[in-house]
Amino acid sequence: MPQNLINSLIPHKEIQNTSGQGTAPVNIALSKYWGKRDIPLNLPTNSSLSISLPELGTKTTIQLLDAAQDKVILNNKEQDPTSIFATRLSKYLDFFRPANQSFLIETTNTVPTAAGLASSASGYAALVLALDDLYGWQLDKKQLSILARLGSGSASRSIYEGFAIWHKGEKAEGTDSYAEALDHPYPDLRIGLVKVDVSEKSHSSTQGMQHTVNTCHLYQNWPAQAEAQLQEIKQAIIQQDFSKLGATAEHNALSMHATMIASWPPILYWQAESITAMQKVWQLRETGTEVYFTMDAGPNLKLLYLQADSQKIKQAFPAIQELAPFQ
Ligand code: PMV
Repeated sequence: MPQNLINSLIPHKEIQNTSGQGTAPVNIALSKYWGKRDIPLNLPTNSSLSISLPELGTKTTIQLLDAAQDKVILNNKEQDPTSIFATRLSKYLDFFRPANQSFLIETTNTVPTAAGLASSASGYAALVLALDDLYGWQLDKKQLSILARLGSGSASRSIYEGFAIWHKGEKAEGTDSYAEALDHPYPDLRIGLVKVDVSEKSHSSTQGMQHTVNTCHLYQNWPAQAEAQLQEIKQAIIQQDFSKLGATAEHNALSMHATMIASWPPILYWQAESITAMQKVWQLRETGTEVYFTMDAGPNLKLLYLQADSQKIKQAFPAIQELAPFQ
């Protein structure tokens, strides 16, 4: 149960400051997490590897509130307490809440919420950092990563800048499933966001994953493939082998989407423009520009390329948002 795990991690439940603050980056998985072996504990079927984007993320402030219920402000707009966003947040805060204590949570994203750009990852990582500040726990990164994981699986990786590996862990109680930094900067690496549609997504990641696990016959091959590709990407990062990094990340993302498409009823997050963008990437590769893509539970592409090709990529994708994770 999450409560037992949380009680074993936090030193106390007495609030020590009047407010707490946290900021965390979004992260893009290069080797994806898809499938849970335990839903309440957010324990994954496979490990994953990500890159954080420090230019995009979430800033959260939490304060005590003298009211009957929490007040949640997202991007300067007060949220309806019955909305999915506010309900999920308040349910998570229940694990930490002293009796009858309400909170004011103000959170600002520099990334569109629920657009497949992992705002829940930076959101829950920032919230855990804000709670650590409010309660004065001074938890280490491993403990923070486990707490963030309980809010949203991929949030376990947003505790770090640079590359991070979320170890799936083996234990039923979830104490060995946390992310760690892979400390190998890659200064020339660029991530380009190709935004196809930034409106709310049709299926949440949890629904999408579990539907795939339950109905897709191809899924049984996924965990072993994902573990092997994670190791290949890790080696490629250490060796600065961009071709291997990009090709393995693209293959991994398309394999994850293949399991969704082969579910029944099928899940397809792509739109027509997503496919147009994929074909443009493949054409660029055929003509000698090394660019690859990855995609999450949404229609948007994240391109991977090196700084030397930045101009060519911007010409091909004029609306691209380029990020330099190590600058
Ligand atoms: O942690 P969630 O529920 O947002 O799931 C993330 C799932 C993917 O973005 C598709 C893959 C990943 O590893 O980030």
